[in-house]
Amino acid sequence: MVTDASEYQKVCDLDDVWEGEMDVFEVAGQEVLLVHVEGGGMRAYSPICPHQDFPLIDGDLDERCILTCSAHLWQFSADSGEGVNPEGVSLNAYPVKVENDTVFVVFPTVDKAVNA
Ligand code: FES
Repeated sequence: MVTDASEYQKVCDLDDVWEGEMDVFEVAGQEVLLVHVEGGGMRAYSPICPHQDFPLIDGDLDERCILTCSAHLWQFSADSGEGVNPEGVSLNAYPVKVENDTVFVVFPTVDKAVNA
């Protein structure tokens, strides 16, 4: 059965990503970068930098919740996903929710076999 685009999938427990930290998780062959914003809840993004496809997990998340890619030092607000330096770019956000201390994400669909 093909996963529906609106279907949330369990990723991890809330305690797996402490406030002010980030980590990458894989569910059914797809990866997601989770950022636990201090006092602001969970954010989910594609784990790949929108500049030149480097892994964002190799970057740095500072106390202002600014995520800096390790490759060319582009900076993003890990809260909003918007570019800080440069502006006008953004991380690819995925829908995320927390229920009963469990984190769920909607992954982007990949070439659905609609005629199968
Ligand atoms: S690949 Fe991330 S800043 Fe260039």
